Amino acid sequence: QAKVEIDLAAIPEGKNVIVKWRGKPVFIRHRTGDEIQEAEDTKWESLRDPQPDSDRVKRPEWLIMVGVCTHLGCVPIGESGDFGGWFCPCHGSHYDISGRARKGPAPLNLEVPEYSFPEDETVVIG
Ligand code: FES
Repeated sequence: QAKVEIDLAAIPEGKNVIVKWRGKPVFIRHRTGDEIQEAEDTKWESLRDPQPDSDRVKRPEWLIMVGVCTHLGCVPIGESGDFGGWFCPCHGSHYDISGRARKGPAPLNLEVPEYSFPEDETVVIG
């Protein structure tokens, strides 16, 4: 379907869920305070796809991204890799806790889809 609605109250802090949207996985992470701090403190100017965390989230506690590796399209694994985020086992790309490409062949950060928060505890992807 074009849009998918998710109940955020069901996702505890420090957890990931994966939802399907337009045939693709979408990662939703309820980030912890430490993770937000780390994402915001990263020196992003020198990254291969330079982007501050603030350009990648609408609310810092909710990181929402298309779960498709920007190298060749595998689905990265959560809570793994060298940067506290995701790791793509296909060819070894590491993404940080903002979904930014940090190591390995991935040329770009994980894509942020269109989404909105119609209510405090609800997100709509699409
Ligand atoms: Fe992810 Fe190649 S598809 S590293």
